Amino acid sequence: MTDKAEVTPWEVSSDLQETDYSRIASQFGAKLIDDKILSDIKELTGEIHPFLHYGIFFAHRDLDIILENYRKGEPFYLYTGRGPSGNMHLGHLLPFMFTKWLQEKFNVDLLIQITDDEKYLFRDIPESEIRTITRNNILDILSLGFNPEKTHIIVDSEQAGILYNQAVRVSRHITASTAKAVFGFTDSDSIGKYFFTSIQAVPAFLLSALSGRNIRCLIPYAIDQDPHFKVARDVIPKLGYEKPSSIISKFIPSLKGGGKMSSSDLNSGIYLDDSPKVVRKKLMKYAFSGGKETAEEQRKYGANPDIDFAFNIYRMLEHDQNKVEGIYAKYKGGEILSGEMKQLSADTISAFLETLGPARQQAERNYSEYMFNADDFRDRY
Ligand code: TYM
Repeated sequence: MTDKAEVTPWEVSSDLQETDYSRIASQFGAKLIDDKILSDIKELTGEIHPFLHYGIFFAHRDLDIILENYRKGEPFYLYTGRGPSGNMHLGHLLPFMFTKWLQEKFNVDLLIQITDDEKYLFRDIPESEIRTITRNNILDILSLGFNPEKTHIIVDSEQAGILYNQAVRVSRHITASTAKAVFGFTDSDSIGKYFFTSIQAVPAFLLSALSGRNIRCLIPYAIDQDPHFKVARDVIPKLGYEKPSSIISKFIPSLKGGGKMSSSDLNSGIYLDDSPKVVRKKLMKYAFSGGKETAEEQRKYGANPDIDFAFNIYRMLEHDQNKVEGIYAKYKGGEILSGEMKQLSADTISAFLETLGPARQQAERNYSEYMFNADDFRDRY
């Protein structure tokens, strides 16, 4: 990846456009989600999630195999994750929202890996802070209301015994030159970084390893994580398990346009603990607009909603697709001004953030029920 370092798990350097996504997917060897996949999903789940409808989840690896086997009655499980580096923003929540929908529709187990070791290695965050951030991030994820019976959280440092033995098996098949080529490491990167991808690979076959049966795994993530799973897919069959499948999303761009929302700039994104006042201020002051310079021009020529931050977040959170289409047409046609679009988006975001409160409080009470327990899986499948 060194010559085309637009996307690594640690950096997304360019302002990615539609065409870049198709190119990157094909460079990485992933396939675009086509009409056949969409109609298979619709047939199995009864609907198309808006993130699929709008092309936010746009690419996959072997998702067709998961769907085909599910149709024949073969189980699979879901796996996704979070590297706790600070508060979570809406971009981080996106794969979890979609994963929750998949979990409900297919009624399957979900592993959520919390890579507290990753952020220690890559971001230099002190161990003491990581613990607090980890708990907060877990509560943020659970605020979406995951089913405690089927949702199993693996905090790397707490499940080291289970993860380490499997990660060692993975690491034996990854050379330093592969890690350098895929992740852009150099000789001055720590050896901890070189090893890390082996840890992120483990949940992709862990239930097979624990149960002694080959159970397929589907991993939702945004494209920055794809390098990890490209490597994992090469190695896992060598250990005797099925290649994991994946479903891949685009990034929510930063508030200011371009790149992705970044935890290092608090004004680059909407955070889950932003108050309605802060949300409104961020949108009004910083949000990248697809509108025109003046109200007059806007009325005459209309906006470009596709590149407009406020519209894109509104579309992500408003479930009524007819409403979204109506707003799109009006904004594009000049009937709605940028300020109005921002206000509508701010209201939608704040209303959404408010819905997270009750499940978060509930999760504080039954936090331990969500924690991964290897014994649960010895004869679950
Ligand atoms: P992390 O914590 O950087 O990101 C968590 C999840 O959010 C996605 N993501 C975004 N999606 C849309 N727009 C954005 N602006 C945006 N920023 C981040 C990421 O792709 C990810 O899905 N190493 C991982 C943690 C992890 C993981 C996994 C993620 C461990 N195992 C399995 C996905 C699947 C990380 O640091 O993610």
